[in-house]
Amino acid sequence: MFCWNGTTSGVCVPPAAEWISDEREGLTICDATSAIFGVKMAPWHKLDVVTFSWQKVLGGEGAHGILILSPRAVERLESWSPEFRPIPKIFRLTSGSPPKLIEGIFRGETINTPSMLCVEDYLDALEWVEDLGGIDAAIAKTAANYEIVEDFVKRTPWAHFLCENPKHRSKTSVCLTLDAPAEAVKRMQVSDRPCVRGPCVPARSCYAVVCVTNVCLHVAAL
Ligand SMILES: Cc1ncc(COP(=O)(O)O)c(C=O)c1O
Repeated sequence: MFCWNGTTSGVCVPPAAEWISDEREGLTICDATSAIFGVKMAPWHKLDVVTFSWQKVLGGEGAHGILILSPRAVERLESWSPEFRPIPKIFRLTSGSPPKLIEGIFRGETINTPSMLCVEDYLDALEWVEDLGGIDAAIAKTAANYEIVEDFVKRTPWAHFLCENPKHRSKTSVCLTLDAPAEAVKRMQVSDRPCVRGPCVPARSCYAVVCVTNVCLHVAAL
């Protein structure tokens, strides 16, 4: 069980994920919330369960998420039935004995009342990715934005990446350390100059420190 991208630590798993064995018996469970749509992830057969929400890279609403199950994960759900394991109804993915996957959950037969505004927001975010040119274009946009920060760090003696190893550095949640007293950091401002790489979509802002997929904030002054 692991995060593909550590949102507040500025680290990310490199894409090949060769450390995940193709002969594994267990399941890999990956939280991809701040990675998916922003960085290349492992070949899908390496990941058995993937979860993500759209409030990070897609800049959308919080509190909702997506669960992707591989055939191996479904097989495990349907073959593992411990004698006593009460699970709240909202988390139940199987029913009956022997357990069978409740497939309706994955076809919109909801078991509670999700916010349709949030669902619409997710659809809007997906359309935005499509308009960009699809997932590869979104990943390229993230990389291009990251390079702006990287250039900034290269020519700024007082700014450094928190993650020293470029192989493990996150491109979606860039974390910097600054050689500056706390008072100076508090005085730092974010400029409102337009992004040098093209217009941002105003509704898709993000609270990340410097830069995410679609938003570039320019550090104006120390
Ligand atoms: C990597 C990662 N996973 C999960 C979450 C939590 O997501 P949610 O609030 O949708 O449960 C966060 C932060 O929001 C995160 O950064």
